[in-house]
Amino acid sequence: MLAVEMRGITKRFGNFAANDGIDLLVEKGEIHCLLGENGAGKTTLMNILFGLYRADEGVLKINGESVTGHSARKAFQMGLGMVHQHFMLVDALTVWENVVVGNEPGKFAIDRKDSIRRVQEISDRYHFDLNVTEKVSELSVGMKQRVEILKTLYRGAEIIIFDEPTAVLSPPEVLQLLDIFRDMKKQGKTIIFITHKLNETKAVSDHVTVLRAGKSLETVATADVTVDSLASMMVGHDVSLELQREPSRPGETVLELKNVRLLPNAQSTVSMEIREGEIVGIAGVEGNGQKQLEELILGFQKCREGSIYMMGDDVTRWSTRKRCGKGIGYIPSDRHQRAILPGFSIQDNYLLGNQFSPEYVKNGMIRRKFLHERTLELMKAYDVRAVDEKQSAGSLSGGNQQKMVLSREVGKDTRFVLACQPVRGLDIGAIRYIHEILLDLKKKGKGILLISAELTDILQLSDRIAVLYKGEILAMRKNEDYTTDSIGLLMAGQKGGQ
Ligand SMILES: Nc1ncnc2c1ncn2[C@@H]1O[C@H](COP(=O)(O)OP(=O)(O)O)[C@@H](O)[C@H]1O
Ligand SMILES: [Mg+2]
Repeated sequence: MLAVEMRGITKRFGNFAANDGIDLLVEKGEIHCLLGENGAGKTTLMNILFGLYRADEGVLKINGESVTGHSARKAFQMGLGMVHQHFMLVDALTVWENVVVGNEPGKFAIDRKDSIRRVQEISDRYHFDLNVTEKVSELSVGMKQRVEILKTLYRGAEIIIFDEPTAVLSPPEVLQLLDIFRDMKKQGKTIIFITHKLNETKAVSDHVTVLRAGKSLETVATADVTVDSLASMMVGHDVSLELQREPSRPGETVLELKNVRLLPNAQSTVSMEIREGEIVGIAGVEGNGQKQLEELILGFQKCREGSIYMMGDDVTRWSTRKRCGKGIGYIPSDRHQRAILPGFSIQDNYLLGNQFSPEYVKNGMIRRKFLHERTLELMKAYDVRAVDEKQSAGSLSGGNQQKMVLSREVGKDTRFVLACQPVRGLDIGAIRYIHEILLDLKKKGKGILLISAELTDILQLSDRIAVLYKGEILAMRKNEDYTTDSIGLLMAGQKGGQ
């Protein structure tokens, strides 16, 4: 029997079809993966199923029943639940209060004891390991996610949609979540699991439907496909996932942190050195001090404890401008805030950050001809695809925006590159290209500090890896000296897990 039947679903935003005749058939009691790159249309399709958007065309059936005039209220009544990418919890309330509040229509007084008992019972049945009287503010991200799941279960949801739930989790938490999926399946629940990660798909699902550019490909049984074939389905052509990383030949130190405090309540300070000809990766779940590290190195944040050296100079008290003048290639984690002027042309964007360079500006005048030639040269060298250099930067795809930023930053004559979340939001093709650029820079002798929330990036590119947890470096070792398990445990804060 089908729990969900969506046929020919089309959803347009203006002229653009985010969903273009999509078919999705989900069997009752299975774990069904919806796999697709960023922008493929996954969230849009699920918002339609959950009644948040109205489809322009197509047929929707839930448990065999045709649904018309779909709404979130109806979805809820028909047993659908959704765990969104962003949690909707009240920090100041306890777990059980979050679960029960807003779900007791018509009841003026909630029976506290009974509610706690009921919520705890569900939590235990699925091995959530939660104390439901604890405040949500005390919980880790992984635990908060369980509270969201608990909310759907408490409401009696039978079909539960998870929108990229693993994006916010450390590797051991991911494994635990996949176990929870299996438990839920055992209890007869139907799970729709959205992800762009192939290994997760392969590990847990019964069927996979691949979305590509708003269209659905055929649904396949997971057991019948390999990770490689899923990758090529998702991208539309063969992709090789293997990369060749050459051994590092570390030269002079380009960046050094000495006893720098990243987070006010961190148990210890951070010290590390980055040398020419190596990539040092910072592994860790986002929110453990990565942002602070980035801002301290650039000087956006004052360094209140410890010192920072660049190419031998103590830059601790230097302004951002002076540090950049010293030579940092900087790929910011927030492209839009720090790296791009979306309303300006690509050419103008290549000037950004070079305003003080005599090559680009002489006697207060922009050297237009030089800028133009340099723009064309970098666009070509780094495969920035655009109509021409006059196109606005904001109208480029995410991958091309990132190539533009990267080419501008690494095209500078610097010995140190700080690359923060360089592949976030990009598709496999662009990711691979950016990986190759970073490896090539290392080969050319630049020292690179790579901060990425994607463990696969870190493992594929880094010569040495530091694991960041709550503002502290729990380990700094050569790449080869970690296993995927040991690094995963460290990312979850388990020092003993080596
Ligand atoms: N409300 C909206 N208005 C305009 N475009 C949208 C809207 N929501 C999504 N899109 C576009 O539709 C496409 C699919 O988006 P989405 O469903 O979020 O993809 P996914 O979840 O697979 O990453 C993207 O190109 C996105 O920019
Ligand atoms: Mg999405």
